[in-house]
Amino acid sequence: MKTPTWVLVVITGFISLNLHAKPDIEQPVIKQLQESYRNNAVTSFDAPDGKAIWYSEQNGRSCTSCHGTSPTDVGKHRKTGKKILPMAPSVNPKRLIKAAKIEKWFLRNCKWTLGRECSPQEKGNILQWLQQI
Ligand code: HEC
Repeated sequence: MKTPTWVLVVITGFISLNLHAKPDIEQPVIKQLQESYRNNAVTSFDAPDGKAIWYSEQNGRSCTSCHGTSPTDVGKHRKTGKKILPMAPSVNPKRLIKAAKIEKWFLRNCKWTLGRECSPQEKGNILQWLQQI
């Protein structure tokens, strides 16, 4: 039996949709920030370590407390209940585009979650991971 043309069109459509499903988004500001984090001790950034920090728990708090189980999901602020849009630039291209915003929230959120500031190495690692998801 000959496959109808419309079936082929639909299949081709799905394949190209799939190819475009996850654009390889590179937020230029991430590179700039990582450059500013580099020093004698910090020479490269490690995504698995960034992921480990994201999921590490301190006194029942972790980055997931507000940002949700996965950075590709919509989160919910633990105190205010407000919706927080996904953190991964692959599903939310408006993420991680402003250095001042990133630094402001790193400061506030690392303090609340870990009880201390994140180091330049940790911040670079977290950004490395978030842009790869
Ligand atoms: C108490 C809730 C809460 C926790 C816990 C939390 N965050 Fe956030 N985070 C927010 C809110 C609120 C925003 C700003 C709102 C928005 O951008 O949607 C934000 C924004 C950010 C941003 C800026 C995103 C951008 O687009 O520039 C970064 C980076 C970030 N958080 C990192 C972290 C990291 C790393 C942790 C864990 C150490 C963490 N957050 C834990 C609530 C939280």
